[in-house]
Amino acid sequence: PLIKELFGLTELEEALRRHLGLRRVIIVSGDADQSQWVKKEMGRAGARLLREEARPGQVVAVAGGTTVAAVAEMMAPTPQLKETTFVPARGGLGEAVELEANYIASLMAKKTGGSYRLMHVPDQLSEETYRTVIREPHIREVLELLKTARIAVHGIGGAMEMAVRRKSSMELLRHLREKEAVGEAFGYYFNRQGEIVHRMKTVGIRLDDLQRMERIISVAGGASKADAIAAICSVACRDTLITDEGAARAILEKA
Ligand code: F6P
Repeated sequence: PLIKELFGLTELEEALRRHLGLRRVIIVSGDADQSQWVKKEMGRAGARLLREEARPGQVVAVAGGTTVAAVAEMMAPTPQLKETTFVPARGGLGEAVELEANYIASLMAKKTGGSYRLMHVPDQLSEETYRTVIREPHIREVLELLKTARIAVHGIGGAMEMAVRRKSSMELLRHLREKEAVGEAFGYYFNRQGEIVHRMKTVGIRLDDLQRMERIISVAGGASKADAIAAICSVACRDTLITDEGAARAILEKA
């Protein structure tokens, strides 16, 4: 309540940036939990940032979800983006097709005139199949490309919400509840301390790979994602967070 009166958006950005230890925070007004329009605004901010940061010949790793999809929807051609290759950050995570990283990478390419690569890997692989799949030349090639990514764009979700959206087993839901998972990104589930409590078995970016990237653009908003954002930003974000007022105030109020 005090925070509400004290801060305008710019002050809020600086307060959240410091609190989470990030390089940059961009906050759009409103709360994505309340209105779809706010997610579109986060998408617009993400698309603008990608346009500004783009370099010709770059590879951009793209995660799935509705918020990154909103970024894709707002993208448009520029000379740099036309020479960009969009690659899915992870293989299938059990999402609906239009929320899959594969689809969103192809959408970004379509909107900008850039190119894209797909990584068709099923979600629930046995250890044995997994080992075989990652040796496939086509998959290996995309994984190599992913290693050269300059920028990653990803979403953040609430742990339980994501597990349910992915139609996860009762066993996994129980495990996540027991381990007090609060957030999810890139197929990793985190607790409040930012520790990994579960990882989904699929190919693609690992958290360590993020260290090498020049830009990590995390896009997530809505007050309901406050705990998820706070937990994940302590380990995975470090660069730029695009969020909304609802999430920003909720994170700072709980701090
Ligand atoms: O499943 C892909 C993913 O990027 C998750 O890692 C993340 O938790 C989720 O989507 C975010 O989805 P949304 O933006 O729809 O909340």
